[in-house]
Amino acid sequence: MEVFKEAQLLRKRLTKHRNNGHSVGLVPTMGSLHKGHLQLIEKCLKQNKVTVCSIFVNPTQFSNPTDLKKYPQNIDKDLTLLELTGCDIVFNPDVKEMYPQPPVVQFDFGQLGNILEGKFRPGHFNGVGFIVSKLFNIVVPDRAYFGEKDLQQLAIIRRLVTDMNYNIEIVGIPTVREQNGLALSSRNKRLTDKEKIQSSIIYKSLKAGEVILRNQGSARDVCNAVAAVLKKATLLNPEYIECIDMDSFKILVKDDITENTAICTAVKIGKVRLIDNLIVRKLRPSRK
Ligand code: PAF
Repeated sequence: MEVFKEAQLLRKRLTKHRNNGHSVGLVPTMGSLHKGHLQLIEKCLKQNKVTVCSIFVNPTQFSNPTDLKKYPQNIDKDLTLLELTGCDIVFNPDVKEMYPQPPVVQFDFGQLGNILEGKFRPGHFNGVGFIVSKLFNIVVPDRAYFGEKDLQQLAIIRRLVTDMNYNIEIVGIPTVREQNGLALSSRNKRLTDKEKIQSSIIYKSLKAGEVILRNQGSARDVCNAVAAVLKKATLLNPEYIECIDMDSFKILVKDDITENTAICTAVKIGKVRLIDNLIVRKLRPSRK
């Protein structure tokens, strides 16, 4: 496994691969890798000749400086895991390499970037759009891999690819969960044991919403059902609970349901903020 710190050297290496007809897959990460990341790597290994994993804690996507400071990092462990999984190349630049100057270009994803995470983390998707397009320009991958846990991020990146004509296939990978349902996230490392147990209720709440949805309940019924379950866990403070139409990625208002719906939530627990979602496909759309 080769590790690059400089974009220019990585470019040179990848140009060689491309000249040899090798396909290149990219798995962008912020490190602190868990099984969810490793599934992205495994999928990438299957579909491409060369797998590149980037590890970079991107400061421009953090609206909260404490969140950035506390973001878990363990590069040695990450490199060991990547080596064991069979990753070919790691790109691990420092902030100066990625941002030699404070960026002036802005990414505004309109309504898509203003709801859910965008509403509660102003500037977040500007930072994500910025770093992901930088990585796309440096690596020029054939495919790039992202987890469905960050569902809105996935929608934003698909839009980035369409709007900017990137010739890259975006592959979304289903959320990987602990046995108790807790979605894997690097932020879980900051949870106490008690918080971890209560956090598993997030998935249970989404499943309760799914039952309502499958019984032709409205978006409002679904959100109420999710809220009712979350309320039982005293440490959980929901920031938002919304149903999203997966085709338009718009929030479903009150009485709506659509064929493909995602139930999305963000929950604060102690000093940690977790997001999760459940995609419920192919319902018969109707109105109450
Ligand atoms: O999902 C993440 O880990 C980050 O948002 C990403 C896509 C690596 C960009 O920094």
